[in-house]
Amino acid sequence: MGGALLKGWFAQGLSPVDIMIVEPAGRAAVESTDEHPALSVLTDASELPSDFTPDAIVFAVKPQAAAGIIPAYARFAEGGTVYLSIIAGLSLKNIQEMLGPKAAVVRSMPNTPAAIGRGISVLCPADSVGPSQKRVCKVLMAAAGQTAWITDEADMDAVTAVSGSGPAYVFLLAEALAEAGIAAGLEPALAEQLAQATVSGAGALLDAETKPAGTLRENVTSPGGTTEAALQILMADDGLPSLLTRAVEAATQRSKDLAG
Ligand SMILES: NC(=O)c1ccc[n+]([C@@H]2O[C@H](COP(=O)([O-])OP(=O)(O)OC[C@H]3O[C@@H](n4cnc5c(N)ncnc54)[C@H](OP(=O)(O)O)[C@@H]3O)[C@@H](O)[C@H]2O)c1
Repeated sequence: MGGALLKGWFAQGLSPVDIMIVEPAGRAAVESTDEHPALSVLTDASELPSDFTPDAIVFAVKPQAAAGIIPAYARFAEGGTVYLSIIAGLSLKNIQEMLGPKAAVVRSMPNTPAAIGRGISVLCPADSVGPSQKRVCKVLMAAAGQTAWITDEADMDAVTAVSGSGPAYVFLLAEALAEAGIAAGLEPALAEQLAQATVSGAGALLDAETKPAGTLRENVTSPGGTTEAALQILMADDGLPSLLTRAVEAATQRSKDLAG
């Protein structure tokens, strides 16, 4: 995810001389170094210059590694630096405990379409974050796609369940539609091609249109037609809306449990 953000920052025009990467595995582990030889890659936070005053520090490490990494960046907390964390499940309080109570921390939850600049990232600021620090974080996450703010951090569990985990639900839809096509007698390769093109094409249409999803659905549903016959099954009491409600409830609960 850190690599996807870096790619997006370069695409936005951020200069490699304005970025420092800390990556224990060194330059070879950072994809963009061949294209951007001026990019600095350090292997440990202790190598950061003593007079360094970054606008933002982005934490993009695994949750289980965070406690061993974040405290090394506490010295920047008093200099106006904003800390932006994309670490799933790590609360603003957890992070501030590692950086000190004055640290300006923004927590964000991106999703995997960030890899192609088509993600959505939800951001939640700590009380200590000022307007210009919020702007910096929004610009940084906009490199991965759309952005949205929440003010109640408790909503991050539901955000995780909807957009964080959501791409998997859409991939499952493509898989299930292909399997249903095979069951209806199509060759597997054709069924998979139809399902994939339908899911990605419908997603692109939804993105291009100003009308809501429900209107687009109604527009392709003729009374007494084939789509209506399928939707009567999908929209039954035990159909897709009820299944997704239960799935999102389960993911929200899991997110709460993981955060402890
Ligand atoms: N992937 C997603 O779709 C997604 C979505 C939302 C949120 N997130 C969050 O994003 C974070 C990163 O996820 P990921 O999937 O990108 O994991 P990842 O591929 O394992 O990336 C973690 C990176 O952190 C590096 N790292 C390890 N120790 C470090 C240190 N001391 N200082 C600096 N960097 C260090 C790792 O380097 P090595 O490889 O050398 O160990 C690796 O490059 C996670 O907290 C995850 O919860 C991910």
